[in-house]
Amino acid sequence: MQALFNDLVGIVGETGVLREASDMAPYVADVRGFYQGNAQYVVRPRSTDEVAAVVALCVERSVPVQAQGGNTSLCGGSVPFADARGVILSLSRMRRIREIDAANHSMTVEAGCVLAEVQRAAIEADRFYPVSLGAEGSCQIGGNIATNAGGTGVLRYGNTRENILGLEVVLPNASVWNGLRGLRKDNTGFDLKHLFIGSEGLLGIITAATLRLHPLNTRHIAAWLAPVSIEAAVELLGLFQSSLGPQLTAFEVLNSAQLQKVLKHMPDRRSPLDPAHPWHILTELGCTTDEAGLQANLEALLQKAMSSGLLTDAAVASNETQRAAMWNIRHSVTDAIKAAGRGIAHDIAVPVSKIPEFVRRVTPVLEQRFAAIQIVIVGHLGDGNLHFIPLFDFDVWETFPDPQAVIDEVHRLTYGIAMELGGTFSAEHGIGRYLVAEMRQYKSGVELSLMRSIKDALDPRGLFNPQKMIPE
Ligand code: FAD
Ligand code: LAC
Ligand code: ZN
Repeated sequence: MQALFNDLVGIVGETGVLREASDMAPYVADVRGFYQGNAQYVVRPRSTDEVAAVVALCVERSVPVQAQGGNTSLCGGSVPFADARGVILSLSRMRRIREIDAANHSMTVEAGCVLAEVQRAAIEADRFYPVSLGAEGSCQIGGNIATNAGGTGVLRYGNTRENILGLEVVLPNASVWNGLRGLRKDNTGFDLKHLFIGSEGLLGIITAATLRLHPLNTRHIAAWLAPVSIEAAVELLGLFQSSLGPQLTAFEVLNSAQLQKVLKHMPDRRSPLDPAHPWHILTELGCTTDEAGLQANLEALLQKAMSSGLLTDAAVASNETQRAAMWNIRHSVTDAIKAAGRGIAHDIAVPVSKIPEFVRRVTPVLEQRFAAIQIVIVGHLGDGNLHFIPLFDFDVWETFPDPQAVIDEVHRLTYGIAMELGGTFSAEHGIGRYLVAEMRQYKSGVELSLMRSIKDALDPRGLFNPQKMIPE
Protein backbone atom coordinates (compact mmCIF):
# COMPACT_ATOMS: atom_id res chain seq x y z
CA MET A 1 0.00 0.00 0.00
CA GLN A 2 2.80 2.35 0.99
CA ALA A 3 4.60 1.41 -2.24
CA LEU A 4 1.57 2.42 -4.31
CA PHE A 5 1.34 5.69 -2.40
CA ASN A 6 5.00 6.47 -2.98
CA ASP A 7 4.74 5.68 -6.67
CA LEU A 8 1.63 7.84 -7.08
CA VAL A 9 3.40 10.71 -5.29
CA GLY A 10 6.32 10.15 -7.66
CA ILE A 11 3.98 10.84 -10.57
CA VAL A 12 1.66 13.62 -9.34
CA GLY A 13 3.61 15.12 -6.44
CA GLU A 14 2.85 15.25 -2.71
CA THR A 15 -0.19 17.52 -3.04
CA GLY A 16 -1.66 15.38 -5.80
CA VAL A 17 -2.47 12.39 -3.58
CA LEU A 18 -5.03 12.51 -0.76
CA ARG A 19 -5.23 9.73 1.82
CA GLU A 20 -6.65 11.23 5.03
CA ALA A 21 -10.32 10.34 5.52
CA SER A 22 -11.24 14.00 6.04
CA ASP A 23 -9.52 15.01 2.78
CA MET A 24 -11.14 12.17 0.85
CA ALA A 25 -14.64 12.68 2.32
CA PRO A 26 -15.98 14.96 -0.47
CA TYR A 27 -14.83 12.45 -3.09
CA VAL A 28 -16.26 9.26 -1.58
CA ALA A 29 -19.87 10.43 -1.01
CA ASP A 30 -22.38 11.48 -3.65
CA VAL A 31 -24.10 14.85 -3.94
CA ARG A 32 -27.47 13.65 -2.62
CA GLY A 33 -26.03 11.66 0.28
CA PHE A 34 -27.37 8.32 -1.01
CA TYR A 35 -24.02 6.57 -1.49
CA GLN A 36 -21.01 6.32 0.78
CA GLY A 37 -18.00 4.80 -0.96
CA ASN A 38 -14.38 4.08 -0.21
CA ALA A 39 -10.96 4.35 -1.85
CA GLN A 40 -7.31 3.91 -0.95
CA TYR A 41 -6.37 7.31 -2.35
CA VAL A 42 -7.66 10.21 -4.37
CA VAL A 43 -5.14 11.00 -7.13
CA ARG A 44 -5.20 14.38 -8.87
CA PRO A 45 -2.94 14.51 -11.92
CA ARG A 46 -2.10 17.81 -13.61
CA SER A 47 -1.54 16.68 -17.19
CA THR A 48 -2.43 14.00 -19.72
CA ASP A 49 1.02 12.44 -19.27
CA GLU A 50 0.45 12.18 -15.54
CA VAL A 51 -2.97 10.58 -16.12
CA ALA A 52 -1.33 8.03 -18.45
CA ALA A 53 1.38 7.27 -15.87
CA VAL A 54 -1.20 6.83 -13.08
CA VAL A 55 -3.27 4.53 -15.31
CA ALA A 56 -0.17 2.46 -16.22
CA LEU A 57 0.75 2.09 -12.55
CA CYS A 58 -2.78 1.12 -11.47
CA VAL A 59 -3.16 -1.45 -14.23
CA GLU A 60 0.24 -2.94 -13.44
CA ARG A 61 -0.80 -3.30 -9.78
CA SER A 62 -4.41 -4.36 -10.59
CA VAL A 63 -5.80 -1.34 -8.73
CA PRO A 64 -9.34 -0.32 -9.80
CA VAL A 65 -9.67 3.24 -11.14
CA GLN A 66 -12.74 5.37 -10.44
CA ALA A 67 -12.81 8.41 -12.73
CA GLN A 68 -14.29 11.49 -11.11
CA GLY A 69 -15.13 14.99 -12.35
CA GLY A 70 -17.25 17.36 -10.27
CA ASN A 71 -18.92 14.45 -8.42
CA THR A 72 -22.42 15.72 -9.26
CA SER A 73 -23.64 12.42 -10.71
CA LEU A 74 -27.26 11.73 -9.79
CA CYS A 75 -26.89 7.95 -10.24
CA GLY A 76 -23.90 7.11 -8.04
CA GLY A 77 -21.64 6.95 -11.10
CA SER A 78 -18.80 8.97 -9.62
CA VAL A 79 -18.48 7.26 -6.24
CA PRO A 80 -16.79 3.87 -5.73
CA PHE A 81 -18.48 1.08 -3.77
CA ALA A 82 -18.06 0.90 0.01
CA ASP A 83 -15.83 -2.18 -0.22
CA ALA A 84 -13.69 -0.73 -3.03
CA ARG A 85 -9.91 -0.66 -2.59
CA GLY A 86 -9.08 1.34 -5.70
CA VAL A 87 -8.13 4.93 -6.40
CA ILE A 88 -10.33 7.83 -7.36
CA LEU A 89 -8.74 9.59 -10.31
CA SER A 90 -9.96 13.18 -10.07
CA LEU A 91 -9.54 15.51 -13.05
CA SER A 92 -9.97 18.59 -10.88
CA ARG A 93 -6.43 19.89 -11.44
CA MET A 94 -6.66 19.70 -15.24
CA ARG A 95 -8.42 23.02 -15.84
CA ARG A 96 -6.61 24.64 -18.72
CA ILE A 97 -8.38 26.14 -21.69
CA ARG A 98 -5.93 25.10 -24.36
CA GLU A 99 -7.27 27.04 -27.32
CA ILE A 100 -10.25 29.05 -28.55
CA ASP A 101 -10.65 29.17 -32.33
CA ALA A 102 -13.45 31.70 -32.77
CA ALA A 103 -13.41 31.53 -36.58
CA ASN A 104 -13.85 27.74 -36.38
CA HIS A 105 -16.47 28.06 -33.61
CA SER A 106 -14.50 25.67 -31.42
CA MET A 107 -12.52 25.56 -28.20
CA THR A 108 -10.23 22.93 -26.72
CA VAL A 109 -10.34 22.47 -22.97
CA GLU A 110 -9.01 20.06 -20.38
CA ALA A 111 -11.47 17.64 -18.83
CA GLY A 112 -11.38 19.20 -15.37
CA CYS A 113 -12.65 22.60 -16.55
CA VAL A 114 -15.86 23.47 -14.72
CA LEU A 115 -18.77 23.88 -17.12
CA ALA A 116 -19.56 27.45 -15.99
CA GLU A 117 -15.93 28.50 -16.63
CA VAL A 118 -16.14 27.12 -20.16
CA GLN A 119 -19.42 28.95 -20.79
CA ARG A 120 -17.81 32.20 -19.60
CA ALA A 121 -14.66 31.74 -21.69
CA ALA A 122 -16.81 31.17 -24.79
CA ILE A 123 -18.80 34.36 -24.12
CA GLU A 124 -15.56 36.33 -23.73
CA ALA A 125 -14.68 35.15 -27.24
CA ASP A 126 -18.16 36.26 -28.46
CA ARG A 127 -19.25 32.63 -28.82
CA PHE A 128 -21.67 30.32 -27.00
CA TYR A 129 -21.23 26.87 -25.46
CA PRO A 130 -24.83 25.70 -25.04
CA VAL A 131 -24.71 22.86 -22.50
CA SER A 132 -26.33 24.21 -19.33
CA LEU A 133 -27.56 22.51 -16.17
CA GLY A 134 -28.20 23.15 -12.49
CA ALA A 135 -24.80 21.73 -11.49
CA GLU A 136 -22.86 23.88 -13.97
CA GLY A 137 -20.99 25.68 -11.16
CA SER A 138 -19.27 22.43 -10.16
CA CYS A 139 -19.66 19.72 -12.84
CA GLN A 140 -16.76 19.33 -15.26
CA ILE A 141 -16.55 19.00 -19.01
CA GLY A 142 -15.05 15.50 -18.67
CA GLY A 143 -18.01 14.44 -16.52
CA ASN A 144 -20.47 16.04 -18.95
CA ILE A 145 -18.92 14.08 -21.79
CA ALA A 146 -18.69 10.82 -19.84
CA THR A 147 -22.43 11.10 -19.06
CA ASN A 148 -23.49 12.75 -22.33
CA ALA A 149 -25.19 15.35 -20.14
CA GLY A 150 -28.41 16.98 -21.32
CA GLY A 151 -29.79 19.98 -19.44
CA THR A 152 -31.87 22.93 -20.52
CA GLY A 153 -30.30 23.69 -23.91
CA VAL A 154 -30.96 20.34 -25.60
CA LEU A 155 -34.14 21.44 -27.38
CA ARG A 156 -32.19 23.95 -29.47
CA TYR A 157 -28.57 22.73 -29.39
CA GLY A 158 -28.63 18.99 -28.60
CA ASN A 159 -27.00 16.94 -25.87
CA THR A 160 -23.30 17.12 -25.00
CA ARG A 161 -22.75 14.54 -27.77
CA GLU A 162 -23.89 17.05 -30.41
CA ASN A 163 -21.44 19.63 -29.06
CA ILE A 164 -18.23 17.60 -29.12
CA LEU A 165 -15.92 17.76 -32.13
CA GLY A 166 -12.97 15.85 -30.74
CA LEU A 167 -11.56 14.09 -27.68
CA GLU A 168 -8.29 13.14 -26.03
CA VAL A 169 -8.54 9.92 -24.00
CA VAL A 170 -6.13 7.88 -21.91
CA LEU A 171 -7.09 4.29 -22.66
CA PRO A 172 -7.00 1.49 -20.07
CA ASN A 173 -3.75 0.24 -21.66
CA ALA A 174 -2.28 3.68 -20.78
CA SER A 175 -1.88 4.79 -24.40
CA VAL A 176 -3.13 8.28 -25.28
CA TRP A 177 -5.61 8.67 -28.15
CA ASN A 178 -5.35 12.18 -29.51
CA GLY A 179 -8.60 12.79 -31.36
CA LEU A 180 -8.73 16.54 -30.74
CA ARG A 181 -9.95 17.48 -34.20
CA GLY A 182 -11.98 20.63 -34.73
CA LEU A 183 -13.73 19.27 -37.81
CA ARG A 184 -17.40 19.24 -38.78
CA LYS A 185 -16.68 16.59 -41.36
CA ASP A 186 -14.37 13.61 -40.97
CA ASN A 187 -15.49 10.26 -42.35
CA THR A 188 -12.24 8.38 -41.82
CA GLY A 189 -13.52 5.14 -40.33
CA PHE A 190 -15.44 4.67 -37.08
CA ASP A 191 -16.10 7.94 -35.29
CA LEU A 192 -14.38 6.85 -32.09
CA LYS A 193 -15.29 9.87 -30.01
CA HIS A 194 -18.84 8.56 -29.79
CA LEU A 195 -17.58 5.45 -28.02
CA PHE A 196 -16.35 7.57 -25.13
CA ILE A 197 -19.23 10.06 -24.99
CA GLY A 198 -21.62 8.53 -22.46
CA SER A 199 -19.15 5.77 -21.47
CA GLU A 200 -19.28 6.79 -17.76
CA GLY A 201 -15.60 6.13 -17.10
CA LEU A 202 -15.78 2.45 -18.15
CA LEU A 203 -13.53 2.78 -21.20
CA GLY A 204 -10.76 5.10 -20.04
CA ILE A 205 -10.13 8.65 -18.89
CA ILE A 206 -11.18 11.64 -20.99
CA THR A 207 -8.44 14.24 -20.54
CA ALA A 208 -9.43 16.97 -23.03
CA ALA A 209 -12.09 17.87 -25.59
CA THR A 210 -12.65 20.12 -28.56
CA LEU A 211 -16.08 21.66 -28.13
CA ARG A 212 -18.46 22.97 -30.77
CA LEU A 213 -19.32 26.64 -30.20
CA HIS A 214 -22.30 28.58 -31.55
CA PRO A 215 -23.05 32.21 -32.35
CA LEU A 216 -23.77 34.10 -29.15
CA ASN A 217 -27.39 35.12 -28.69
CA THR A 218 -27.32 38.66 -27.38
CA ARG A 219 -31.09 39.01 -26.91
CA HIS A 220 -33.09 36.77 -24.60
CA ILE A 221 -36.63 36.77 -23.31
CA ALA A 222 -37.86 34.39 -20.65
CA ALA A 223 -41.50 33.79 -19.82
CA TRP A 224 -43.32 31.81 -17.14
CA LEU A 225 -46.52 30.20 -18.36
CA ALA A 226 -49.40 28.37 -16.69
CA PRO A 227 -50.94 25.94 -19.19
CA VAL A 228 -54.36 24.54 -18.28
CA SER A 229 -53.15 20.93 -18.36
CA ILE A 230 -50.21 18.76 -19.35
CA GLU A 231 -51.96 18.14 -22.70
CA ALA A 232 -52.10 21.92 -23.21
CA ALA A 233 -48.41 22.20 -22.30
CA VAL A 234 -47.49 19.76 -25.08
CA GLU A 235 -49.76 21.55 -27.56
CA LEU A 236 -48.18 24.85 -26.57
CA LEU A 237 -44.73 23.40 -27.18
CA GLY A 238 -45.74 22.43 -30.73
CA LEU A 239 -47.13 25.91 -31.33
CA PHE A 240 -43.94 27.56 -30.06
CA GLN A 241 -41.72 25.24 -32.10
CA SER A 242 -43.53 25.78 -35.38
CA SER A 243 -43.87 29.54 -34.89
CA LEU A 244 -40.43 30.34 -33.48
CA GLY A 245 -38.11 27.76 -35.04
CA PRO A 246 -34.55 28.27 -33.76
CA GLN A 247 -35.58 31.30 -31.66
CA LEU A 248 -37.03 28.86 -29.11
CA THR A 249 -34.14 27.92 -26.82
CA ALA A 250 -35.84 26.34 -23.77
CA PHE A 251 -39.15 24.81 -22.74
CA GLU A 252 -38.98 23.48 -19.19
CA VAL A 253 -41.87 22.12 -17.12
CA LEU A 254 -42.63 21.93 -13.39
CA ASN A 255 -45.78 20.70 -11.71
CA SER A 256 -47.32 22.60 -8.84
CA ALA A 257 -45.88 20.18 -6.23
CA GLN A 258 -42.34 20.82 -7.51
CA LEU A 259 -42.76 24.58 -7.54
CA GLN A 260 -44.21 24.56 -4.02
CA LYS A 261 -41.20 22.57 -2.75
CA VAL A 262 -38.84 25.21 -4.15
CA LEU A 263 -40.86 28.05 -2.62
CA LYS A 264 -41.03 26.33 0.76
CA HIS A 265 -37.37 25.35 1.04
CA MET A 266 -35.82 28.38 -0.71
CA PRO A 267 -37.79 31.22 0.86
CA ASP A 268 -36.08 33.94 -1.21
CA ARG A 269 -37.58 32.54 -4.45
CA ARG A 270 -40.81 34.18 -5.68
CA SER A 271 -43.18 32.46 -8.05
CA PRO A 272 -43.95 34.60 -11.12
CA LEU A 273 -47.50 33.16 -11.18
CA ASP A 274 -49.89 31.60 -8.66
CA PRO A 275 -48.08 28.37 -7.64
CA ALA A 276 -51.43 26.58 -7.34
CA HIS A 277 -51.71 26.36 -11.14
CA PRO A 278 -51.25 22.64 -11.85
CA TRP A 279 -48.45 23.09 -14.42
CA HIS A 280 -45.76 25.71 -15.01
CA ILE A 281 -43.55 26.27 -18.05
CA LEU A 282 -40.33 28.26 -18.17
CA THR A 283 -39.64 29.08 -21.77
CA GLU A 284 -36.92 31.20 -23.35
CA LEU A 285 -36.39 32.78 -26.73
CA GLY A 286 -33.05 33.99 -28.02
CA CYS A 287 -31.54 35.56 -31.11
CA THR A 288 -28.48 37.44 -32.23
CA THR A 289 -30.19 40.59 -33.49
CA ASP A 290 -33.62 42.06 -32.88
CA GLU A 291 -35.11 42.17 -29.39
CA ALA A 292 -38.23 44.03 -30.50
CA GLY A 293 -38.98 41.29 -33.01
CA LEU A 294 -38.50 38.63 -30.37
CA GLN A 295 -40.84 40.37 -27.95
CA ALA A 296 -43.50 40.85 -30.65
CA ASN A 297 -43.29 37.17 -31.66
CA LEU A 298 -43.71 36.04 -28.07
CA GLU A 299 -46.62 38.39 -27.36
CA ALA A 300 -48.45 37.28 -30.50
CA LEU A 301 -48.01 33.66 -29.49
CA LEU A 302 -49.20 34.24 -25.95
CA GLN A 303 -52.31 36.01 -27.26
CA LYS A 304 -53.04 33.08 -29.52
CA ALA A 305 -52.50 30.55 -26.72
CA MET A 306 -54.77 32.49 -24.34
CA SER A 307 -57.57 32.83 -26.85
CA SER A 308 -57.43 29.18 -27.79
CA GLY A 309 -57.74 28.20 -24.12
CA LEU A 310 -54.32 26.60 -23.71
CA LEU A 311 -53.00 29.08 -21.18
CA THR A 312 -54.45 30.33 -17.90
CA ASP A 313 -51.81 32.95 -17.24
CA ALA A 314 -48.37 34.17 -18.34
CA ALA A 315 -45.60 36.45 -17.06
CA VAL A 316 -42.88 37.78 -19.34
CA ALA A 317 -39.58 38.73 -17.68
CA SER A 318 -39.12 42.43 -18.30
CA ASN A 319 -35.45 42.61 -17.33
CA GLU A 320 -32.38 40.46 -16.70
CA THR A 321 -33.07 40.28 -12.94
CA GLN A 322 -36.51 38.79 -13.52
CA ARG A 323 -35.15 36.39 -16.10
CA ALA A 324 -32.42 35.22 -13.71
CA ALA A 325 -35.01 34.82 -10.93
CA MET A 326 -37.06 32.49 -13.15
CA TRP A 327 -33.99 30.35 -13.91
CA ASN A 328 -33.08 30.36 -10.22
CA ILE A 329 -36.35 28.62 -9.45
CA ARG A 330 -35.70 26.04 -12.14
CA HIS A 331 -32.15 25.37 -11.02
CA SER A 332 -33.18 24.94 -7.35
CA VAL A 333 -35.26 21.82 -7.87
CA THR A 334 -32.64 19.26 -6.81
CA ASP A 335 -31.80 21.06 -3.56
CA ALA A 336 -35.50 21.61 -2.81
CA ILE A 337 -36.31 17.92 -3.27
CA LYS A 338 -33.37 16.91 -1.10
CA ALA A 339 -34.70 19.17 1.68
CA ALA A 340 -38.36 18.18 1.21
CA GLY A 341 -38.24 14.45 1.80
CA ARG A 342 -37.15 11.14 0.34
CA GLY A 343 -37.58 11.49 -3.40
CA ILE A 344 -37.41 8.44 -5.65
CA ALA A 345 -35.90 9.85 -8.83
CA HIS A 346 -36.79 8.68 -12.33
CA ASP A 347 -35.13 10.35 -15.29
CA ILE A 348 -37.49 9.02 -17.93
CA ALA A 349 -38.09 10.05 -21.52
CA VAL A 350 -40.96 9.13 -23.82
CA PRO A 351 -41.87 10.61 -27.20
CA VAL A 352 -43.13 14.15 -26.48
CA SER A 353 -46.57 13.18 -27.77
CA LYS A 354 -46.83 10.49 -25.05
CA ILE A 355 -45.92 12.72 -22.09
CA PRO A 356 -49.57 13.35 -21.07
CA GLU A 357 -50.38 9.64 -21.27
CA PHE A 358 -47.34 8.81 -19.13
CA VAL A 359 -48.36 11.31 -16.44
CA ARG A 360 -52.04 10.35 -16.48
CA ARG A 361 -51.33 6.63 -16.26
CA VAL A 362 -48.54 6.49 -13.71
CA THR A 363 -49.91 9.06 -11.22
CA PRO A 364 -53.08 7.18 -10.16
CA VAL A 365 -51.25 3.87 -10.04
CA LEU A 366 -48.75 5.23 -7.50
CA GLU A 367 -51.32 7.24 -5.55
CA GLN A 368 -53.52 4.18 -5.13
CA ARG A 369 -50.59 2.04 -4.03
CA PHE A 370 -49.05 4.51 -1.53
CA ALA A 371 -51.48 6.82 0.30
CA ALA A 372 -48.85 9.38 1.38
CA ILE A 373 -46.98 9.67 -1.91
CA GLN A 374 -46.50 13.10 -3.49
CA ILE A 375 -45.92 13.27 -7.23
CA VAL A 376 -43.19 15.81 -7.97
CA ILE A 377 -42.41 16.49 -11.63
CA VAL A 378 -39.83 18.71 -13.28
CA GLY A 379 -38.21 18.28 -16.63
CA HIS A 380 -37.20 19.19 -20.10
CA LEU A 381 -40.59 18.98 -21.82
CA GLY A 382 -39.13 19.94 -25.18
CA ASP A 383 -37.02 16.75 -25.07
CA GLY A 384 -39.80 14.46 -23.77
CA ASN A 385 -37.67 14.09 -20.61
CA LEU A 386 -39.31 14.20 -17.19
CA HIS A 387 -37.64 13.94 -13.81
CA PHE A 388 -40.52 12.09 -12.24
CA ILE A 389 -39.88 12.06 -8.50
CA PRO A 390 -42.49 10.45 -6.24
CA LEU A 391 -41.64 11.74 -2.78
CA PHE A 392 -42.45 10.85 0.83
CA ASP A 393 -42.08 13.18 3.81
CA PHE A 394 -39.16 12.02 5.95
CA ASP A 395 -41.41 10.98 8.85
CA VAL A 396 -43.52 8.82 6.50
CA TRP A 397 -40.38 7.33 4.94
CA GLU A 398 -39.15 6.24 8.36
CA THR A 399 -42.29 4.15 8.91
CA PHE A 400 -41.52 1.82 5.98
CA PRO A 401 -40.05 -1.42 7.35
CA ASP A 402 -38.33 -2.16 4.03
CA PRO A 403 -37.57 1.12 2.21
CA GLN A 404 -35.71 -0.64 -0.59
CA ALA A 405 -38.85 -2.65 -1.39
CA VAL A 406 -40.76 0.65 -1.75
CA ILE A 407 -38.11 2.04 -4.08
CA ASP A 408 -38.12 -1.14 -6.16
CA GLU A 409 -41.91 -1.15 -6.48
CA VAL A 410 -42.12 2.53 -7.42
CA HIS A 411 -39.39 1.97 -10.02
CA ARG A 412 -41.13 -1.08 -11.45
CA LEU A 413 -44.49 0.68 -11.80
CA THR A 414 -42.99 3.87 -13.25
CA TYR A 415 -40.45 2.39 -15.65
CA GLY A 416 -42.95 -0.23 -16.77
CA ILE A 417 -45.27 2.47 -18.11
CA ALA A 418 -42.43 4.54 -19.59
CA MET A 419 -41.11 1.49 -21.45
CA GLU A 420 -44.58 0.52 -22.70
CA LEU A 421 -44.82 4.00 -24.23
CA GLY A 422 -41.59 3.52 -26.17
CA GLY A 423 -39.49 5.36 -23.58
CA THR A 424 -36.27 4.99 -21.63
CA PHE A 425 -35.40 4.60 -17.95
CA SER A 426 -32.48 7.03 -18.17
CA ALA A 427 -32.74 10.00 -20.48
CA GLU A 428 -29.77 12.11 -19.41
CA HIS A 429 -28.27 11.15 -16.03
CA GLY A 430 -26.82 7.80 -17.11
CA ILE A 431 -26.75 4.46 -15.29
CA GLY A 432 -23.93 4.54 -12.72
CA ARG A 433 -24.81 2.09 -9.98
CA TYR A 434 -28.42 3.27 -9.58
CA LEU A 435 -29.87 1.63 -12.67
CA VAL A 436 -27.77 -1.51 -13.26
CA ALA A 437 -30.75 -3.77 -12.46
CA GLU A 438 -32.87 -1.84 -14.98
CA MET A 439 -30.18 -2.36 -17.62
CA ARG A 440 -30.54 -6.10 -17.05
CA GLN A 441 -34.33 -5.88 -17.11
CA TYR A 442 -35.01 -3.57 -20.05
CA LYS A 443 -32.02 -3.74 -22.42
CA SER A 444 -31.95 -6.53 -24.97
CA GLY A 445 -29.41 -9.34 -24.72
CA VAL A 446 -27.94 -8.19 -28.01
CA GLU A 447 -27.31 -4.65 -26.71
CA LEU A 448 -25.83 -5.87 -23.42
CA SER A 449 -23.55 -8.33 -25.11
CA LEU A 450 -22.30 -5.67 -27.55
CA MET A 451 -21.59 -3.37 -24.61
CA ARG A 452 -19.73 -6.15 -22.78
CA SER A 453 -17.65 -6.89 -25.89
CA ILE A 454 -16.61 -3.25 -26.19
CA LYS A 455 -15.80 -3.07 -22.48
CA ASP A 456 -13.76 -6.29 -22.62
CA ALA A 457 -11.86 -5.13 -25.71
CA LEU A 458 -10.75 -1.89 -24.09
CA ASP A 459 -10.57 -2.88 -20.41
CA PRO A 460 -10.06 -6.67 -20.38
CA ARG A 461 -9.33 -6.75 -16.64
CA GLY A 462 -12.39 -4.72 -15.71
CA LEU A 463 -10.49 -2.15 -13.65
CA PHE A 464 -12.26 1.01 -14.83
CA ASN A 465 -15.41 1.81 -12.81
CA PRO A 466 -16.05 -1.81 -11.88
CA GLN A 467 -19.66 -2.94 -11.32
CA LYS A 468 -21.09 0.20 -12.91
CA MET A 469 -23.43 0.48 -15.88
CA ILE A 470 -23.16 -2.99 -17.45
CA PRO A 471 -24.71 -5.84 -15.44
CA GLU A 472 -22.41 -8.81 -14.93
P1 FAD B 1 -19.06 13.10 -12.09
O1 FAD B 1 -20.32 13.12 -11.31
O2 FAD B 1 -17.81 13.29 -11.34
O3 FAD B 1 -18.97 11.73 -12.89
C1 FAD B 1 -20.04 11.26 -13.66
C2 FAD B 1 -19.59 10.00 -14.43
O4 FAD B 1 -18.62 10.36 -15.40
C3 FAD B 1 -18.93 8.95 -13.56
O5 FAD B 1 -19.24 7.70 -14.08
C4 FAD B 1 -17.44 9.22 -13.72
O6 FAD B 1 -16.68 8.06 -13.51
C5 FAD B 1 -17.38 9.68 -15.16
N1 FAD B 1 -16.32 10.66 -15.42
C6 FAD B 1 -16.18 11.90 -14.89
N2 FAD B 1 -15.14 12.53 -15.44
C7 FAD B 1 -14.58 11.66 -16.32
C8 FAD B 1 -13.46 11.74 -17.20
N3 FAD B 1 -12.71 12.83 -17.29
N4 FAD B 1 -13.19 10.65 -17.97
C9 FAD B 1 -13.95 9.53 -17.90
N5 FAD B 1 -15.01 9.42 -17.09
C10 FAD B 1 -15.32 10.47 -16.31
N6 FAD B 1 -27.46 16.02 -15.67
C11 FAD B 1 -28.05 16.25 -16.86
O7 FAD B 1 -27.79 15.52 -17.82
N7 FAD B 1 -28.95 17.27 -17.03
C12 FAD B 1 -29.27 18.11 -16.03
O8 FAD B 1 -30.10 18.99 -16.20
C13 FAD B 1 -28.64 17.91 -14.77
N8 FAD B 1 -28.90 18.74 -13.75
C14 FAD B 1 -28.29 18.53 -12.56
C15 FAD B 1 -28.56 19.42 -11.52
C16 FAD B 1 -27.97 19.23 -10.29
C17 FAD B 1 -28.26 20.22 -9.19
C18 FAD B 1 -27.09 18.13 -10.07
C19 FAD B 1 -26.43 17.91 -8.74
C20 FAD B 1 -26.81 17.26 -11.11
C21 FAD B 1 -27.40 17.44 -12.35
N9 FAD B 1 -27.15 16.59 -13.43
C22 FAD B 1 -27.74 16.81 -14.64
C23 FAD B 1 -26.28 15.42 -13.25
C24 FAD B 1 -24.77 15.74 -13.38
O9 FAD B 1 -24.49 17.03 -13.02
C25 FAD B 1 -24.29 15.55 -14.78
O10 FAD B 1 -24.43 14.19 -15.10
C26 FAD B 1 -22.82 15.98 -15.03
O11 FAD B 1 -22.59 15.87 -16.40
C27 FAD B 1 -21.79 15.18 -14.28
O12 FAD B 1 -20.54 15.84 -14.37
P2 FAD B 1 -19.43 15.69 -13.23
O13 FAD B 1 -18.20 16.39 -13.67
O14 FAD B 1 -19.96 16.07 -11.91
O15 FAD B 1 -19.16 14.13 -13.29
C1 LAC C 1 -32.60 18.88 -13.73
C2 LAC C 1 -31.72 17.74 -13.31
C3 LAC C 1 -32.27 16.99 -12.16
O1 LAC C 1 -33.08 18.90 -14.85
O2 LAC C 1 -31.43 16.89 -14.38
O3 LAC C 1 -32.82 19.77 -12.90
ZN1 ZN D 1 -32.54 17.36 -16.14
